[in-house]
Amino acid sequence: MSIQIIPAILSQTEEQFKQDIEKFSHSKLASLGWIHIDFMDDILVPNKSISPQVVKKYPINVKKEAHLMVAYPLKWAEKLAKAGFNRVIFHLEARDNPIQMIKTVRARRMEVGIAINMDTSLEKLEPLIKYTDEVLVMAITPGFQGQPFIPESITRIKKIKSMGWKVQIGVDGAVRDNNAKQLAQAGADRLTIGSFLIKENSDRNLEVIMKALNL
Ligand code: DX5
Ligand code: ZN
Repeated sequence: MSIQIIPAILSQTEEQFKQDIEKFSHSKLASLGWIHIDFMDDILVPNKSISPQVVKKYPINVKKEAHLMVAYPLKWAEKLAKAGFNRVIFHLEARDNPIQMIKTVRARRMEVGIAINMDTSLEKLEPLIKYTDEVLVMAITPGFQGQPFIPESITRIKKIKSMGWKVQIGVDGAVRDNNAKQLAQAGADRLTIGSFLIKENSDRNLEVIMKALNL
C-alpha cells in the first residue's frame, strides 16, 4: 500500500494564506512534497477564496495542485500555469465543457484531476476517465474546512477501485487519524488533509496520521 498525504490550504484572504503557508513551510508538512490549494468562486460553492495571483506572490518549494471549486474553471487554467501549478483538479459539477477543460490544462503541461461530489453519479465520470490522471472523491460537501466526514465515500472509493481505471484515487474532506487507514484500505492513493494538519499542531498530527497508516 503506497499512500500519499497532501496537506490542503483553504484561504479566504491573503492574510490567512500567508499565515497558513508560513505554518506549512516551517513544519514537516513541507517534506511531503505537495500542497493542495483550494479555490472557490461563490457560485459552485457558497464561499470565496484568494486568487492564483496571491499564491504566486509567496513561492514555496513543493509541487502545487489546485482544487477548483468553481463553476467556470476554463478561465482559471492560464493563471494557475503562471502561478506554477503542477496539477489542476476541476469539478465534474462545473459548467464548462470537461473535455475542453482537460485539453486546456494539458496544453499548459499540468496534470488533470476530476473531483466528484457525493451526490453526483459515478457514471458521469466514465467517458472522461481515460483523459484524466486522478479522480478526487469528495468526502464532504465542498466549500469549507472542518466539516463532518460522509462515510459513504468509503464505499465510493471501493467502487472506483473495482472499476480498474488507470487513475490515481484521491479523497478530500474531513480526513484525519480516525479514518485515514480505512480510506487507504478502500483504495485511496492520496489523502488530502486540511484542518487536521493545518489548523492544529502540524508536526504532531502528521506523526499521528503516519502512525495510523503504519508508515
Ligand atoms: C473543502 C476543500 C478541502 C478542505 C479540506 O471544500 O476542498 O480541500 O481544504 O479540509 P478538511 O480536511 O478540514 O475537511
Ligand atoms: Zn480541496
